[in-house]
Amino acid sequence: MENKFLPLLELALPYYEKGRSMDVEHIKWLCETVPKYISDSEVNHDILMPVAILHDTGYSKIPKGSDSYNLNVRKAHSEFGAQIAEEIMTKLDYPRDTIEEVKRLILKHDDWAFGDSFITEPVLLAFNNFDFMWMASEKGFELCRSNMNIEPVKYYHLVEKFNKDNLDRGSRWFNSRTEELYYKLMADRRKELGI
Ligand SMILES: [Fe+2]
Ligand SMILES: [Fe+2]
Repeated sequence: MENKFLPLLELALPYYEKGRSMDVEHIKWLCETVPKYISDSEVNHDILMPVAILHDTGYSKIPKGSDSYNLNVRKAHSEFGAQIAEEIMTKLDYPRDTIEEVKRLILKHDDWAFGDSFITEPVLLAFNNFDFMWMASEKGFELCRSNMNIEPVKYYHLVEKFNKDNLDRGSRWFNSRTEELYYKLMADRRKELGI
């Protein structure tokens, strides 16, 4: 990730430390992975990276042990996240129109759970590829699996099902590199599981 986004990460991390047990690792993985697969010319990083860095800060305001798959929790963490993004980005003197756009996208970032394919929102489509793929990454697989309390092979097939559901909903891979990364991560997990 470019150094210019480090102050955002620094101010966001204390919120992630108060959020779900996986959140610090989740955000660090996004910060290092997203810029490798999405170029600034495909999606403006000045919007994409603040969305990636700040999108789940709202879990810091959700009572511990809440079900993050519950739709009300999804809505609430997005609303809290948009407020926190406003505070952090204002503190760092981001332009007003950038703050408004990042807040708008953070408010919508989990709308896939309400049927949105993000097909008309390139930033969210690109972001969501990674927010989802985290579940198949080396650390994310184990953290999400233990959080859901599902045995590994069952969890592997659940991730496959989620991917099928995404495509059935009309979503798609942002580019061939994100698609290839997902299938590579899943092949790595299969190898580890011996399936
Ligand atoms: Fe989220
Ligand atoms: Fe997330």
